[in-house]
Amino acid sequence: MSNNPLSRRQFIQIGTGALAATTAAKAILQPQRLYAARPVPPSDTIRFASIGTGIRGCEHLEASLQVPGIQCVAVCDLYDSRHTAARESVKNPSVMATRDYRSILDRKDVDSVLIATMDHNHRRIFEDACAAGKDVYCEKPMSHTVEDGFAMVEAAHKNNRMVAVGSQRVSSVLYAKAKEIHDSGKLGEVFSINAYWDRNSPSGAWVYPIPPDASEKTIDWNAFLGSAPKHAFDPVRFFRWRCFTDYGEGLGGDLFVHLLSGIQFVAGINEPAQRAQSSGGLYHFKDGREFPDLIETLYDYPNCRITLRCNLNNNGGEFIGFYGTKGTMIIKDATLTYRPEDTRPEPEGYSIFGWPKALREQYLEKWHEEHPVPAALASNVDAEGESYSNPPGYSDTVDHQANFYNAVRTRKPVVENEIFGNNAAIGCHLANFSYFNKSVAVWDPATKKIVKG
Ligand SMILES: NC(=O)c1ccc[n+]([C@@H]2O[C@H](COP(=O)([O-])OP(=O)(O)OC[C@H]3O[C@@H](n4cnc5c(N)ncnc54)[C@H](O)[C@@H]3O)[C@@H](O)[C@H]2O)c1
Repeated sequence: MSNNPLSRRQFIQIGTGALAATTAAKAILQPQRLYAARPVPPSDTIRFASIGTGIRGCEHLEASLQVPGIQCVAVCDLYDSRHTAARESVKNPSVMATRDYRSILDRKDVDSVLIATMDHNHRRIFEDACAAGKDVYCEKPMSHTVEDGFAMVEAAHKNNRMVAVGSQRVSSVLYAKAKEIHDSGKLGEVFSINAYWDRNSPSGAWVYPIPPDASEKTIDWNAFLGSAPKHAFDPVRFFRWRCFTDYGEGLGGDLFVHLLSGIQFVAGINEPAQRAQSSGGLYHFKDGREFPDLIETLYDYPNCRITLRCNLNNNGGEFIGFYGTKGTMIIKDATLTYRPEDTRPEPEGYSIFGWPKALREQYLEKWHEEHPVPAALASNVDAEGESYSNPPGYSDTVDHQANFYNAVRTRKPVVENEIFGNNAAIGCHLANFSYFNKSVAVWDPATKKIVKG
C-alpha cells in the first residue's frame, strides 16, 4: 500500500479535476429571451420612464433599445447633466426630462417606471409609483433598511403591481444553466456554497470622479437627501454615495446582493438567512467612507451554509461555488463548470494501516467479493464534467428587462419579484448589522427584525 499512495478515488478525482479544468468542451449558451417567442404588435408597446439616470440608469436606457415592444417616454434625474446623458443613451434628444418624478407618475401614458436612484430613495419612489398604478423595475438592493423592504412589499401587493428587482444574474442564461444542473440532482445535496467578488481599483471602490459642472445649481441636493439626515451640499456624498450609511450599504448592498440573488435563484432559496456573522475592516480606502473595504460573512440557512466575501484590495473577480455530495459547480465570471465527484464505493484504505497484514487482507478480500470491480476504471464516471460560457457580447440586463416587460404584459410575476428582492436585501442588512454591532445578527421572522445573537 505504501508504494501506491493514491487511492483509486483520489486518482480519478485528479483525473476528472484536470479534465474539467482543461479539456471539457466549453459550450457557448444562447440567449433565450422571452420576448423572442412572439413579435410585439405596436398596440402592445409598454411605455416606461426611468427615474434616476446616473450610471445604471443610462446602462438601462441603452439596454432598453434591444428590448422590442417598449418605449422610453420620459426620464428623471436630480442632476441636470444626467438629462443630457439619458437622452444620449436612449438616442432620443427630445424625450421629456425632469427633476420631479411626481410629474412622471402623473402621466397616464407611463405604464411602468424603472427606479435607478441611490438606494435610500428607492422606497419613497417605489411606494408612490405603486400608488399611481405603475409597474416597477427597481434596482438592487431593493431596500435601504429592513423596514423599507417590507413597506415596499406591502405597497406592491396593495396596489397589485408587477415588480422586478434588478439583480440581472437571475435572468442570465449562465445562471439558468446552473439552475438546470442544480435541479437535475447532479450535485447531490449542496450544504456548502461559497462566493466572492473582489476588485482592486479606485473605480471598483466607488472613488468616482466628480464632474466639473456639479454644484447646487445643477443638482437638487434636498431632493437627493430625501428622508436622510440634513447635510450641507457635498458632491462627494452625491457621487460616491455607496460609501455612506445614510444612502447606501457599502459592499453588502453593492455586491453581496448580486451574489445572494444568484445563489437564491440557483439553489431555490427564497427566505432570509437565519443568522449571519461578519468580519472585515477598512484597510486601504481610508478616504472618509463609513463602510469596510473588506467584508466576509458566514450565513446560516435552514439547509446550507453560505459564505460571502468582498475585498476591494485584490482583483479576484466574481465567483460562486456550489459544493455538493455528488458534484461541484463553479460560476467564475462568465463561465460555468460542473465537475462530478467519484462516489463509487471503494474499500477503506486509510484506517486499515493500523491492522495486521492478515486482517487487512481478509477485509479487502471480503470487500471485493461484495463489490465486483467495475469493468473499466474510468468508464463509468461522468469524468469529463461540463463547461459553459456566455455568448460574446451577451447582456443579462437586456434579458432581465425583457422578463420584466413580459410580466407586465402577462401579469405573471418574475422570479426576482418583491419577495425575492426583499429576502436578498435582508441578507445585506444582516451582514452590515453583524459588522457594525460586532455580534451575530439573528433574523427574527416573527417581528421581521434583526436582533443581536
Ligand atoms: N444591477 C446592477 O448591476 C447595478 C449596477 C450599478 C448600480 N445599480 C443600482 O442602481 C442604482 C443607481 O446606481 P448608480 O450607480 O446609477 O448611481 P448614480 O449615483 O450614478 O445615479 C443615481 C441617480 O439617481 C438620481 N436620483 C436620486 N434620487 C432621485 C430622485 N428622488 N428623483 C430622481 N432622481 C434621483 C441621482 O440624481 C443620480 O443621478 C443603485 O440602487 C445601485 O445599487 C445596479
